[in-house]
Amino acid sequence: MPPFYITTPIYYVNDAPHVGHAYATVNADAIARWHRLRGDEVFFLTGTDEHGAKVAETAHEHGLSPSQWADQTARRFRDTWQRLNISNDDFIRTTEDRHRRTVQQFLGQIHDNGYIELGTYRGLYCVACEDYYTPEQLHDGNCPVHSRPAIEMEEENYFFRLSAFEERLLSWYAEVPDAVQPPARRNEALAFIKGGLRDISITRTSLRWGVPVPWDDRHVFYVWYDALVNYLTAIGYGSDDPAWTKWWSAVHHVIGKEIVRFHCVWWPAMCMAAGIDPPRHIFAHGWLLVGGEKLSKTLIRQVGEERGTPLSLTEVAPAALVEQFGVDPLRYHLLRDTPFGSDGEFSYESMVSRFNADLANNLGNLVSRVARVVESKCGGIGPPPSPDSPLATAAAESVSAAQAAWERFAPHEALEATWRLIGAANAELEATEPWKAEPGPAVNAVLGSALEALRIIALLVSPAMPASAQEIWRRIGLGGSPEDQRVPADAAWGSYPGGLHVETGPALFPRRRE
Ligand code: ME8
Ligand code: MG
Repeated sequence: MPPFYITTPIYYVNDAPHVGHAYATVNADAIARWHRLRGDEVFFLTGTDEHGAKVAETAHEHGLSPSQWADQTARRFRDTWQRLNISNDDFIRTTEDRHRRTVQQFLGQIHDNGYIELGTYRGLYCVACEDYYTPEQLHDGNCPVHSRPAIEMEEENYFFRLSAFEERLLSWYAEVPDAVQPPARRNEALAFIKGGLRDISITRTSLRWGVPVPWDDRHVFYVWYDALVNYLTAIGYGSDDPAWTKWWSAVHHVIGKEIVRFHCVWWPAMCMAAGIDPPRHIFAHGWLLVGGEKLSKTLIRQVGEERGTPLSLTEVAPAALVEQFGVDPLRYHLLRDTPFGSDGEFSYESMVSRFNADLANNLGNLVSRVARVVESKCGGIGPPPSPDSPLATAAAESVSAAQAAWERFAPHEALEATWRLIGAANAELEATEPWKAEPGPAVNAVLGSALEALRIIALLVSPAMPASAQEIWRRIGLGGSPEDQRVPADAAWGSYPGGLHVETGPALFPRRRE
């Protein structure tokens, strides 16, 4: 079983989980589930980023200690992921002991290797980003991401000698052309490196809410250096050599495009400085936008003010959308509506129309009409498929296209390919109209093939909509779970056995009002 290690960003606990976080986590989850279906040994990691000035500030505003606040918000992330049926194997919190130990060991190694030294830092700092900006990067003195003023900061810091890694980073980019994807993000990172790298400040004396620097406890590590190391903590870096080396060679970081510099420049350089390989693969996805702007708490407040009626964060909280649409339809929408890697407009209206088109009319309709006709023409017992149904070719095409797409981190294309099979099965039923024909071998062949198509469809949709796939599986009479199957072998045409009881049931995806 080849190892497959996939991570999401660890989310700041200053914010409640929103649809943007769900977008990243659901995409990583579906890719993890696809790899389990392939038979890979998967380790899927998510978690929370709990140190730093921003979290301390937010906790203070709420009259809580940073650790009370972090406990409370980390729980909300965990609960949200449980609600969305996220199959993470671990949930890391940067305030855990295992993480403090790993950060101290990893950065201690970089220090021992001579890549960390003391200096003075002056600069313009955005507290929301936990990051310094050059004057050119600011928009009228404001942070380009958060549109709030950057403040003047000066402190004695330890610096990471990033400048020593320019050449090594460039040769890594040249040797591993698919390390950073998509190409636009790779080019962005490369341009940044070619523009010249300056040493970066990696510690703070101005706050205590962080991991203490082991060789100088007046300092804590700057939250980003602490955060990135989470990817090593969870696999046992420094404590379990066989495990971490196995997982590390198979790592895939899923991140949002605004944190490319951290993951595609600083992080690989830190790995090199500590004497380990840079991450194997980093995939940067785009932003969900509302009215062309990044979906965020601030934006939601602004929109609320502009339209005159309050728009609360909970309107785009995953839990609220689950209540309206259900878990699987929300997951499906997040996977299907926006090509992974591009920005996409998120709107309630488009959720409703895609729900009706793809789920109610296509998939839901196929499931219910097949069951109904099997009931009326075959006494509710599903016949076996025909080996030379036109659906056999359609299925083979969808399986191979979906497989290739999942493996390229393109869930939207994988689902598009899956829906081609759903479309073909519906079209085949419309062309042959088994509901009008006399029971007999011709009708049996059509219905058996439609059931076989549904079996394969259940396999292909299972990474996206695990509960719905399980329900389709059960309704067509199969035991166990699609998740016990192996693709592509078990997605080959012809294994629906026939002779099983097929169940009619309520609509899987009742239409929503537009
Ligand atoms: O940056 N559209 O945490 P964060 C799509 N703690 N994805 C979005 C999004 C949107 N509008 N908003 C957020 C941090 N995301 C650091 C990461 S990793 C070592 C440390 C997703 O809470 C996207 O994946 O700001 C983005 O990169 C991540 O949430 C940032 O979450
Ligand atoms: Mg952010």
